[in-house]
Amino acid sequence: MDVQKEALRIVKLIDKQLMSYLEDGKPEKLMKAVRHYPEAGGKKLRPVLAYVVAQAVRRQGKRAIPFGCALEIIHNFTLIHDDMIDEDPVRRGRPAVHVLFDIPTAVIAGDAMFARGYEVISETKTSPVILNRLYKLTSRTVWLIAEGQQMDFDFETAKTVSPDEYLEMVEKKTAVLFSCAAEGAAIIACGTPSQIWNMREYGRMLGIAFQIWDDVLGVTGDEKTLGKPIGSDIRNGKRTLIMVHALSQLEKRGNKRRKEALLAALGNENATQEEVTRAIDVLKQLGSIDYASKIAIDYAEKAKRSLRCLKNSREKEFLSSLVDFAVGRAH
Ligand code: IPE
Ligand code: IPE
Ligand code: MG
Ligand code: MG
Repeated sequence: MDVQKEALRIVKLIDKQLMSYLEDGKPEKLMKAVRHYPEAGGKKLRPVLAYVVAQAVRRQGKRAIPFGCALEIIHNFTLIHDDMIDEDPVRRGRPAVHVLFDIPTAVIAGDAMFARGYEVISETKTSPVILNRLYKLTSRTVWLIAEGQQMDFDFETAKTVSPDEYLEMVEKKTAVLFSCAAEGAAIIACGTPSQIWNMREYGRMLGIAFQIWDDVLGVTGDEKTLGKPIGSDIRNGKRTLIMVHALSQLEKRGNKRRKEALLAALGNENATQEEVTRAIDVLKQLGSIDYASKIAIDYAEKAKRSLRCLKNSREKEFLSSLVDFAVGRAH
């Protein structure tokens, strides 16, 4: 199945509705900042996931669209704040919100989108009991994202970070939102408790695999295709799984030259392109990129296993292909 083509078809169903939720408000500067990332596109994986899961569970895709849009708005809010935290000037091939406008506007736009996301959940045509579950699930999710983002930031200056600590961090900053999309959609579609639980696991495993692959792309990708800078994780001192592995390898069998090359770029905002390239070479030599890719693939397989609770359908096939896309994509 051509996941990208299929996803595009679903994005078309969602897009108009998504943008309609971002029309109401003023002043114009705030509204422009709010629409800046959604207008630039993005893969819209979270609403696509919500639609397809609800469709796979009980053909309730349409009913899950507002919830999916709400999560996309919340995702875009976290991206605005994330680009300030990470000091990344580019997102989706465009200047970041805090660069195009200013930091106060980016903070306010993020807050406003957070509120709008919550408002949009109430558009779900469902019972008060289910609505309450969606609100609780989403609130818990955004709280965990905050925990993950704080961990990610604190790890930049931590002495050591273990693979387990890394996995907890990415589960929180990234996977919980995928999990929320899949679980929430199964709830909206009135799935069985086992389906709801398995969809939650599917989203979690998919999200972890997706984030590890995102880190791989951050060093091996192409800046143009990716729409964001290569090597910024290294300059920012990010403890990606790749870096966690490399640092522990160097600790074990210290090779001075490699260590120097890596540390010259890690956490050095002013590292030259050449220094970053040299650091990436060290990551390759230590097998750290292969190590992380392999773990991403392990999680991808676990995600696929959670799909057994669904009857065979085109949607189930899509969810399976989406996993392969998440760990093989170029952007
Ligand atoms: C980017 O998410 C932030 C992460 C959690 C890795 P996506 O890769 O889904 O970003 P867009 O929405 O497609 O731009
Ligand atoms: C983004 O993580 C996670 C959230 C926005 C919650 P990253 O900082 O790793 O993602 P990119 O590389 O900026 O998209
Ligand atoms: Mg970032
Ligand atoms: Mg970040």
